[in-house]
Amino acid sequence: MKKNTVVLGTQWGDEGKGKIVDLLTDNADAVVRFQGGHNAGHTLIINGQKTVLHLVPSGILREGVACYIGNGVVVEPEALITEIKELEKAGVNVRSRLRISTAAPIIMPYHILLDQLREKAKGGNAIGTTGRGIGPAYEDKVARRGIRFGDLLDAKLLHEKLTETLEYHNFVIENYFKHEPLNFDKIYQQALSFGEQLKEMNADVTAELHEMQQQGKSVLLEGAQGSLLDIDHGTYPFVTSSNTTAGAASTGTGLGVTDISYVLGITKAYTTRVGSGPFPTELFDDDGKMLAKNGVEFGATTGRPRRCGWLDLVALKRAVQMNGVTGICVTKLDVLDTFSEIKVCTAYEVDGKHQQNFPDSADSWEKIKPVYETLSGWKSITKGITEFNDLPKQAITLIDKIADYTDTPVHIISTGPDRDENIIIKNPLLG
Ligand code: GDP
Ligand code: IMO
Ligand code: MG
Repeated sequence: MKKNTVVLGTQWGDEGKGKIVDLLTDNADAVVRFQGGHNAGHTLIINGQKTVLHLVPSGILREGVACYIGNGVVVEPEALITEIKELEKAGVNVRSRLRISTAAPIIMPYHILLDQLREKAKGGNAIGTTGRGIGPAYEDKVARRGIRFGDLLDAKLLHEKLTETLEYHNFVIENYFKHEPLNFDKIYQQALSFGEQLKEMNADVTAELHEMQQQGKSVLLEGAQGSLLDIDHGTYPFVTSSNTTAGAASTGTGLGVTDISYVLGITKAYTTRVGSGPFPTELFDDDGKMLAKNGVEFGATTGRPRRCGWLDLVALKRAVQMNGVTGICVTKLDVLDTFSEIKVCTAYEVDGKHQQNFPDSADSWEKIKPVYETLSGWKSITKGITEFNDLPKQAITLIDKIADYTDTPVHIISTGPDRDENIIIKNPLLG
């Protein structure tokens, strides 16, 4: 039986995907990233030692697990090389285990510049992007003028493509943003050098993944960002530029949708968001500060403080539906240990009426007021608990509430940042 499992975030990112992927790779043969880029920051803590991954899949710290960057990922080669070198310094062998899709679009220096120039020009209306060039790189892909990983390995083809693309972007950079144009030779030589440094990892990732299927191997598909940042289904325009929902696991790797047997949707026991955009349950009071402090809520990529608020079950239910979530993983339960009361949002109030549907346009968000149900806190330590029955009854009530509201079972509960701090009710890769 196929055990290919998608692991993705159901909120606005940073749900703990890296930690859970690392945990599950104990029983997987490969991990593949299928969308996003180095805007992601996935934290792994193993025996107290922290590793933050941006592009390299979160299976890299388990020896023998193959790691893939699929065609759906936008790759910034310099960032990838730096990440590989850092891992190598820590004694991790990356080059023999990482494969990069020939078809992956490359983030070029003009993408990063354009991302930053645009955000600056938007002033108070900025999206609050990570400034990594993600949006402009995906735009080029869709506009069919993107440079792909395979192009870095062909000097003549790269010259041709870059000439055309850079001319186009320099026109905008100079005439619209009044910024100095970028130098062709510098970008070209750098891109060739990056290609040279990465070429041993160039692969037909789709073919390799299908070969694994024939051998009965299990693949984990590691999502980045979160469902509410999805370009189609998120809080547009305050979203990222890729599909972050489960369908992207197929389009971003070339595995068929029927190859996927399980979708694990991760949610924090509360909510966070980095950058601008709607967030109905956001807190500006002492409870919000306590969530930020207990949860150490600072972005793993940009270091920005994360906005914090209560769990939004309306949004979670929508994410469960959009992704076809098989089982839920609740992370950071321990962050609620100090609260005497815990709230969950069970409906949105719009013009005095309660609704349970998630708006599909950014304008409607302004009118939404969260309707809360208040649960008792447990005021005791859940950190490090590994047995469900050892949880305080109030924590079990919260878990039950999540499962009931979404009509989906909770299969994993994370009770601390370390690899071993989990309650595993059902392991997607076993049984
Ligand atoms: P990702 O982007 O989804 O991989 O998540 P991040 O790594 O950006 O952010 C999650 C943060 O929460 C990291 O600092 C993790 O070490 C931490 N974390 C993950 N699970 C838990 C948990 O159950 N409890 C606590 N206290 N921290 C957690
Ligand atoms: P992981 O994988 C949290 C947010 C940015 C911004 C919006 C668009 O660690 O969960 P972009 O640079 O993608 O164009 O920015 O998306 N964002 C994330 N927020 N976690 C992430 O990744 C994010 N990646 C992008 O803050 O609001
Ligand atoms: Mg993160």
